Amino acid sequence: MIGKAEIGERRREFAARFGRGREPDLYFAPGRVNLIGDHTDYNGGLVLPLAIAEGTCVLIRRKGAPPARLYSANTGWETEFDPREIVPRGDWTDYVRGVFFFLARSQGLPPPFDAMYFGDLPLEAGLSSSASLEVATAISSSSLGFRVDGEEAARIAWRAENEFVGMSCGVMDQYAVSLSRAGHLMLLDCRTLQYDFVPFDLPGTSLVVGHTGVSRSLLDSPYNLRRRECERALGLITAVVGPREDLSQVTLEEFEAVARALPEVPRMRAEHVLRENLRVRLAAECLRGDDPQGVGLLLNESHASLRDLYEVSSPELDTLQEISLRQPGVLGCRMTGAGFGGCVISLIRDGSVREYLEKVPGLYRGVTGHDPLFIEASPSAGAKKLDKRTGSAPDTGHSATAR
Ligand code: GLA
Repeated sequence: MIGKAEIGERRREFAARFGRGREPDLYFAPGRVNLIGDHTDYNGGLVLPLAIAEGTCVLIRRKGAPPARLYSANTGWETEFDPREIVPRGDWTDYVRGVFFFLARSQGLPPPFDAMYFGDLPLEAGLSSSASLEVATAISSSSLGFRVDGEEAARIAWRAENEFVGMSCGVMDQYAVSLSRAGHLMLLDCRTLQYDFVPFDLPGTSLVVGHTGVSRSLLDSPYNLRRRECERALGLITAVVGPREDLSQVTLEEFEAVARALPEVPRMRAEHVLRENLRVRLAAECLRGDDPQGVGLLLNESHASLRDLYEVSSPELDTLQEISLRQPGVLGCRMTGAGFGGCVISLIRDGSVREYLEKVPGLYRGVTGHDPLFIEASPSAGAKKLDKRTGSAPDTGHSATAR
């Protein structure tokens, strides 16, 4: 969590870099972790993510004349661009440029501005640092006169990532980052974009996220290949059962009737998607019915399916999952997000969290040689404007949005 002291320091840094004047406005967008429902979003399926306390802040202030200046305090990278001519450059600022590109299309060109980004999300760790950067930018645009509510911020951020950066991701990350509610998970239907909130109050349990120490960029991963494999599966299945918009509209009965005739890869991918949707539904029921053991079993099944049927796990994710499951009080554990590196999420009895955090890093390092990183994930609110002095926000339970 980004504290008051850091915000004060960053405000001084902003003034030193960009000059004194009106106090810049301050916005925050969290990262996200997905409890269950992976590789379902771009198949029109269900997901159950939560926003975490870690995220991205932006200090932003309108200025008189171009260029706009963007600065990342974490990396020290600074760049300029002319808001009248927004084109991709192939670096981190494309996530920001992409948002302004789509805002410019719908609401007109942005005025010149200075923006300084900082945060506490590990990059390329599978915690949605890119969606966090995009959504923080989208909501901060209200400081420049744009009108963007939480849903619009999620949509613009998703378009920036898909159509400007060129990463064909689903909608889960941008929706969770923008619209999550504190203390809840978001049950999102990625076809209809309808969502509901499921309280996270399983008695005596906590969620712990463990980063394998293996980073990955989705752009260089087989993510897009998996999407194409799902499209192929859909083509083969619908040739028999009739037209459907996406894999999630095929029922399990229909799938089982054709499964034997399918080639191995499309069969495995489709089976994962259909059963994962079912697990999301069941997990939401277990959460509502105070059944931590039920949630734990579903997490384990999801991991096995992502490893064996969808083939997006990695030796490090499997090792961390297996070590986690051997610890007392761990009810379930799975890889979370796209896979190929990144994080696992574990559901652990409160009384066992401390022991878990003491023992697991050494055990994991001993097997893999990688340094893991653990965070206790407390379901947090989505993106919001913060008080520029104190860094705090009245928690309305909804994502705050630009006005
Ligand atoms: C990444 C993508 C999401 C989703 C997950 C896998 O995080 O950005 O849209 O597809 O992978 O569930």
